[in-house]
Amino acid sequence: MAAPVIEPLISKYWGSPQSWTLDAYRKRGGYEGLKKALEMAPAAVIDEVKKSNLRGRGGAGFPTGLKWSFVPKDSPKPKYLAVNGDESEPGTFKDRYILELDPHMMLEGIAIAAWALGVHTCYVYLRGEFKFPAERCQAAIDEAYKAGIFGKKVLGKDFELNCYLVRGAGAYICGEETALLESLEGKKGWPRLKPPFPAVVGLFGCPTVVNNVETLASVPHVFAMGPEKYAKLGTDKSGGTRLVCLSGTVNRPGVYECSMHTTFNDLIFGDAYGRGLPNGRKVKAVIPGGSSAPVLSPHELGTAMEFEALKPLQSMAGSGGVIVMDDRTCMVRSLWRVARFYAEESCGQCTPCREGTPWQTRLLRKIEEGRADMEDLELLSNVATSIAPYPPIGLGNTICALGDAAALPTHSFLMRFRAEFEAHIHEKRCPFGDKPWGEFGEWS
Ligand SMILES: Cc1cc2nc3c(=O)[nH]c(=O)nc-3n(C[C@H](O)[C@H](O)[C@H](O)COP(=O)(O)O)c2cc1C
Ligand code: SF4
Repeated sequence: MAAPVIEPLISKYWGSPQSWTLDAYRKRGGYEGLKKALEMAPAAVIDEVKKSNLRGRGGAGFPTGLKWSFVPKDSPKPKYLAVNGDESEPGTFKDRYILELDPHMMLEGIAIAAWALGVHTCYVYLRGEFKFPAERCQAAIDEAYKAGIFGKKVLGKDFELNCYLVRGAGAYICGEETALLESLEGKKGWPRLKPPFPAVVGLFGCPTVVNNVETLASVPHVFAMGPEKYAKLGTDKSGGTRLVCLSGTVNRPGVYECSMHTTFNDLIFGDAYGRGLPNGRKVKAVIPGGSSAPVLSPHELGTAMEFEALKPLQSMAGSGGVIVMDDRTCMVRSLWRVARFYAEESCGQCTPCREGTPWQTRLLRKIEEGRADMEDLELLSNVATSIAPYPPIGLGNTICALGDAAALPTHSFLMRFRAEFEAHIHEKRCPFGDKPWGEFGEWS
């Protein structure tokens, strides 16, 4: 039975006139959640977020209230909030809609988080290419200052909060939280070794919470409806609703707000969502959570698009980027595309990632062109294992999880579609026919 279609929380007003303005936001109850939070003690605000079972929407699904509770309360240093709007994971394109169509929802979440954490300075870090989202977001920040939401006294309370928008320079790695902090400090985006985690040693060496745009846009709803009600919208361990980005071979690609019970089949075939594949094509594979999430086979699509549900399949819900591949897709060529992306985006600090990602890319091209033998297939698997063994997820041999992100697709494609890789080797060609490679620079 299909999961019920829910009343959206985050995307509800995306189609309404001037949805991005403070006026429109206030008319529909905006900033009421902040008022409630400001009447509570900061520790009680964190408890409410814990009760809501809100989990981070940036990729790892870490419980938000728990993350907030790691910030030391007695630190003499300033504390910071950094909003992650880098959104560069292939297949993920949800945060930009929040920034463009309802930026005050995120700003309200920022103000609530700042009160809970004792933060007086927040940085909203957006990917360099987000020119229009940045303009909308800056306009909303300006409105918030004028209305006394940001500035010396947040809604009249003796609590100062300043918010600055910063644009990156178009590097995927700057979405990794510690690379983001380096970039904010004006340095090149090289991830830091953890621990220490940013909650303790973050921006300028001070306690810092890094949260995704959608995570913060979810926070006002926790306070507007109450944490129990918010939690109940989801599953036992994942509260609320989530935005899912549907792309690939589907009739209606787009961003959909779903309940945590919605399955991949619901999303791809449901009337309210993707409405199936065009021209009667069949699903061959689905990437469930952005390009780094291990690929799924058609028989696994009855699974809910939720953080815990994907664990037994050795995959992850990630950042909500669901990419549908149909029966005409060459899995070798697809994996090559993914591998090439990570080779291009590796920052080069760790040997397994710096050397392994281009090596994977070259081996995949060799297989796709029919020049490989079975030893190359074993070598591909070994190279991926040297970057990050699989399963389980999370044993990477590198400083940051970009290494895992590069190795997991290789492992999962080989595990689920090995016969197709072998067919390329035995037939000495791509069974789906030659296609031009285009100009792909040194990693091709
Ligand atoms: C290579 C890499 C890229 C990432 N890119 C993003 C991104 O674009 N946006 C994001 O919110 N999180 C991204 N993350 C996850 C962040 O490191 C971090 O976990 C997240 O911002 C925490 O916010 P949340 O707890 O609200 O999810 C990335 C992680 C890695 C390893
Ligand atoms: S895993 Fe890759 S991207 Fe991450 S720090 Fe190491 S070399 Fe850089």
